[in-house]
Amino acid sequence: MSLNSKGFKFMQKMTGHEIRQAFLEYFRRQGHTVVPSSPLIPQNDPTLLFTNAGMVQFKDVFLGHDTRPYQRAATCQKCVRAGGKHNDLEQVGHTARHHTFFEMLGNFSFGNYFKADAIRYGWEFLTEYMKLPKDRLWVTIYTNDDEADKLWREIGVTRIVRLGEKDNFWSMGEVGPCGPCSEILYDQGPAFSCGKSGCQAGCDCDRYLELWNLVFMQFNRDSEGELHALPRPSIDTGMGLERITAVVQGAPSNFDSDLFRPIIHAIADLAGLDYQNNHKHDVSMRVVADHARAATFLIGDRVIPANDGRGYVLRRIIRRAVRHGKLLGIDKPFLYKMSGVVIDKMQDAYPELTEHREYIASLILNEEERFIHTLGQGLKILGALVDEVKLKDKNLADGKEIFKLYDTYGFPVDLSREILQENGLSFGQSEFDAAMQEQQDMARKHWKGAAREIKPVYLELTKDAPIEFDRENEKLTTQILAVIQNGQLVGATQDKAAEIVLQQTPFYAEKGGQEADNGWIISDSGRFKVENVLEVMPGLIVHQGVTEQGSLKKGELSEARIDHARRKNIACHHTATHILHAVLRQVLGDHVKQAGSLVASDRLRFDFTHFTGVSRRELARIESLVNENIITNYSVATQEMELEEAIASGAMALFDEKYGQSVRVVSVGEVSKELCGGTHVQAGGEIGLFKIVSESSIAAGVRRIEAVCAKQAFALVTRESELLLETAGLLRCTPSEIAAKTEKLLDSLKQQEKELSRLKDKMASGQVSDLLDKVREIKGVKVLALKISDVSDVERLRSLGDLLKQRMGSGLIVLGAEINQKVALLAIVTPDLIPKLHAGNIIKQVAQITGGSGGGRPDMAQAGGKDVDKLPEAIERVYDIAGEVLKFP
Ligand code: ALA
Repeated sequence: MSLNSKGFKFMQKMTGHEIRQAFLEYFRRQGHTVVPSSPLIPQNDPTLLFTNAGMVQFKDVFLGHDTRPYQRAATCQKCVRAGGKHNDLEQVGHTARHHTFFEMLGNFSFGNYFKADAIRYGWEFLTEYMKLPKDRLWVTIYTNDDEADKLWREIGVTRIVRLGEKDNFWSMGEVGPCGPCSEILYDQGPAFSCGKSGCQAGCDCDRYLELWNLVFMQFNRDSEGELHALPRPSIDTGMGLERITAVVQGAPSNFDSDLFRPIIHAIADLAGLDYQNNHKHDVSMRVVADHARAATFLIGDRVIPANDGRGYVLRRIIRRAVRHGKLLGIDKPFLYKMSGVVIDKMQDAYPELTEHREYIASLILNEEERFIHTLGQGLKILGALVDEVKLKDKNLADGKEIFKLYDTYGFPVDLSREILQENGLSFGQSEFDAAMQEQQDMARKHWKGAAREIKPVYLELTKDAPIEFDRENEKLTTQILAVIQNGQLVGATQDKAAEIVLQQTPFYAEKGGQEADNGWIISDSGRFKVENVLEVMPGLIVHQGVTEQGSLKKGELSEARIDHARRKNIACHHTATHILHAVLRQVLGDHVKQAGSLVASDRLRFDFTHFTGVSRRELARIESLVNENIITNYSVATQEMELEEAIASGAMALFDEKYGQSVRVVSVGEVSKELCGGTHVQAGGEIGLFKIVSESSIAAGVRRIEAVCAKQAFALVTRESELLLETAGLLRCTPSEIAAKTEKLLDSLKQQEKELSRLKDKMASGQVSDLLDKVREIKGVKVLALKISDVSDVERLRSLGDLLKQRMGSGLIVLGAEINQKVALLAIVTPDLIPKLHAGNIIKQVAQITGGSGGGRPDMAQAGGKDVDKLPEAIERVYDIAGEVLKFP
């Protein structure tokens, strides 16, 4: 190790971890605030599946909707590109550079410095700190960006290539901030070239490696595709840590850098194979290494395998890894072990992973086991499909069916193809593609539908100062800033449904699972009923509802008043949710983490991570502990503090929530301490009572408890006790005697049933004597054929048959009855007659007459028939049939 001229530690071959540190340190020294990576689930951005670039957490800052206490920032951001606009899933493993999960190093300027400095920093860091040879570096710029051209030349770079929109215009998604960009490429040398004549900087092959993308953020693209200038030109850059590490270490691929090597070796060990011995195996090892990282980080950031959205991408990643494990000869779950290797490698930079080590491993194991089961099922279904195609003498399976197997069961298409091929078959690719397209269209529609649209009218309103939520008052006199009707700003409410923006508001906007306040906005000219309140953009709170009286005007003074009772009910359910969270951890263990919640005025729903069902005893304990805490009447305190301070004080924070620098901590006595912006009671006793309504599973490893508090809990208890009283009345006992009395009643019912069936048998045996009158002798054999009425099941027919057999000693008995509008037949042959008569064969002939079929053993056989009207004839024919059979001894 040596120090370079600027006093930086410099090693000939820095590790990935050291490069990460060096990058952040370099930019810190250039006046940038080092900001932690945001979670992989983008906060407040439903248009995006995953955080796919460093700029995602700053999107609103670029757009001018949000501000930060700094104008320069640097991050090492966890990213996932799998699904959505930037999707690399299928390429992973086959190339040296693609990943589903990667870390992006980035520096950002929010209206502070622009092109010149961004270019200078990029160049300096790579050439002076990473010591990359200057003559290996190329840059690309946007076709008409003469300014960038000039700036690069000023620092001595002449290897400049101009490229079009596809390569040098960057956008985060279909909508959002974007701008022309300039990329710094590293020439790996002719040995890496594709060899085509046009191979030069910008070629897609491996020779010119895109190292660093400097985006000159200048525009916002709206949903119509139109570009609007951003308030202040800004800088957003991104450099894949995996790439720069491989280049600095002279590794031929990212997978050969120290960031991946331990993971690849662990897989090779598990499979008992060598890396770099067989190309196909190498591809699979890379896929597993990449996917193990992605699955570990996604689960660490609270994504759970599911059938749609983010969870579906995670599921596909795990399944693809398992499939490649299989190609490496690993048949048992293994990926969960790889998550441990990933965590060992990454815990220095992401210490929070260690805390979730067991949770991550168990969730992956669970998913692996499910998939292995799925594979088994899929093989069966595919087997049946193969038979069907062969039976029809065809050689093409329906592509739709193969898609269904893939889509519904997650059965890999290449495996289907392989198995079909082994059977000399293939499948219709175009049908498959069409089905896939249809599914994707649906998914896209679904995803877009989930997004809360930012209406253009809201953008117009943000220019004013942010609207304050006044949590101290339930009633305020405030000005009406805007009235929105059908998405347009209007002077006054005209139709019923409208949206109103106030200068200041006492209304809590729906957030963090807590429903919004309701209430009224009343002015001299009208009354508006507030039915929902949304913070549609940071600092813009919109009251949605209906005009009940008159018309409310823009600019008017109004009284905004929340519905106190509703607020109180919501507060009870919210504080109870915090107590429940703490108690769940106490009863079930520290692995319990909130996975979602809903706080309404009449109920609460709490989703949490836990692997097995919660037993009745545990539930009773949870309910009783929550109530004990309520009775203790702890006071509920809220405190504003710095995020770091809050976390250090042990306050629980949610992974996928967005927290500002200053946060609000809500504590319920010593019981619970959570970061929370919601509304709460002042003392726990106000909750009154807490009753669990249900406990269920909502996904692998996630449970849901639904409960009610306060009035709703009393209502529930009242309903239940009324029910008890009513039942007690019916049973003629007191409520406390209900269980014992019911047990006794059930016992006696069982006794009576037994008695009844004994009596029925007795009666039947009395009738048997009469029935025996119908016995006829045919060729010296006693034959009895009867149509029995009043039997409700075959069981009874059989016991009657047994009785008759005992009484007859020797003979053939055929009984028929109508049961459930169908014919039921029974034939019995006593053992002495078996060589001569066969019950199965006889019943077959009898059944045919009633349009049925059947057969069975020589001594006893059963059959069914459809035509009840033919039953008498069939029974009569028994004597003839027996005669026929007995004719030939
Ligand atoms: N946001 C830019 C990218 O992802 C830097 O390439």
